[in-house]
Amino acid sequence: MQAIKKAVFPVAGLGTRFLPATKANPKEMLPIVDKPLIQYAAEEAVAAGIDVLIFIIGRNKLSISDHFDKAYELEAELAANNNQAMLDIVQNILPSHVDCVYIRQAEALGLGHAVLCAKSVVGNEPFAVLLADDLIRADDTDCMVQMVEKYEQYGRSVLGVERVPYDQVNKYGIVGSKPIINRLSEITTIVEKPDINEAPSNLAVVGRYILSPVIFGYLEKTGKGAGGEIQLTDAIAQLLNEEAILAYEFLGKRFDCGSKLGFLKATVEYALQHPELKLAFSDYLQETVKRD
Ligand code: UTP
Repeated sequence: MQAIKKAVFPVAGLGTRFLPATKANPKEMLPIVDKPLIQYAAEEAVAAGIDVLIFIIGRNKLSISDHFDKAYELEAELAANNNQAMLDIVQNILPSHVDCVYIRQAEALGLGHAVLCAKSVVGNEPFAVLLADDLIRADDTDCMVQMVEKYEQYGRSVLGVERVPYDQVNKYGIVGSKPIINRLSEITTIVEKPDINEAPSNLAVVGRYILSPVIFGYLEKTGKGAGGEIQLTDAIAQLLNEEAILAYEFLGKRFDCGSKLGFLKATVEYALQHPELKLAFSDYLQETVKRD
């Protein structure tokens, strides 16, 4: 079985729900406390043993690559000021064995199209996809680490899923599946943004995937689907005719940071865990809640 060594990060969406913050910056550069969303996702991939990070970038192309690149002037300033703590942070954004590749998606034609843009770099090997705006906090083991374990056990594509309220199934790709063991099932059907009456379950696909490279052939043939976009879900539905695909209910809490409320919840929860901030922030929250 081939190891998962490459991860695709689609960061070329328009981020319309977050305008004007996303006018000149991709939403994946929005920070949760002191780290941009994309860095949390990159760290999760690296923890899972991945060492090639493929970013599918859009019109605001420079800030993501600048973030992962060496910052000579900043480093020189920090060194001149003897600010070793901050110098360590900016010099260790990623471990040195990790390579970054940037591919331009000329038009935001949809998530499926963004993943297809990675075809030539991924080649003929299974790969991960992480949507950085789905921030997942796990207590012990990162979500992608859990998923790679399932892939290594079963040798199949794996989709990260979670249960959502039935009145929200029309916002997600939804799977129907038959159980294998606790938290793991084999997908029988998948549909993008179904009406509540047509949803096969309330198991929603969130932004973590391990995919067989066979998906690229289907992505090439997939036309526009829900919302007029080329949907990854539609290509996965085709792949299901050829290969078994697993749904894995990961252990962890997901924050939908593409929405303002999800972003605020993540900010509060991460601040309450942050070693430098948690006490002062917790006091502040309690005072504010009492006052209002
Ligand atoms: P979303 O569905 O959240 O869309 O994309 P969006 O355009 O980013 O945000 P809104 O809905 O306008 O507010 C899911 C993921 O797919 C990426 C996004 O960057 C996000 O990580 N994406 C989406 C692309 O890279 N390219 C696309 O054409 C569409």
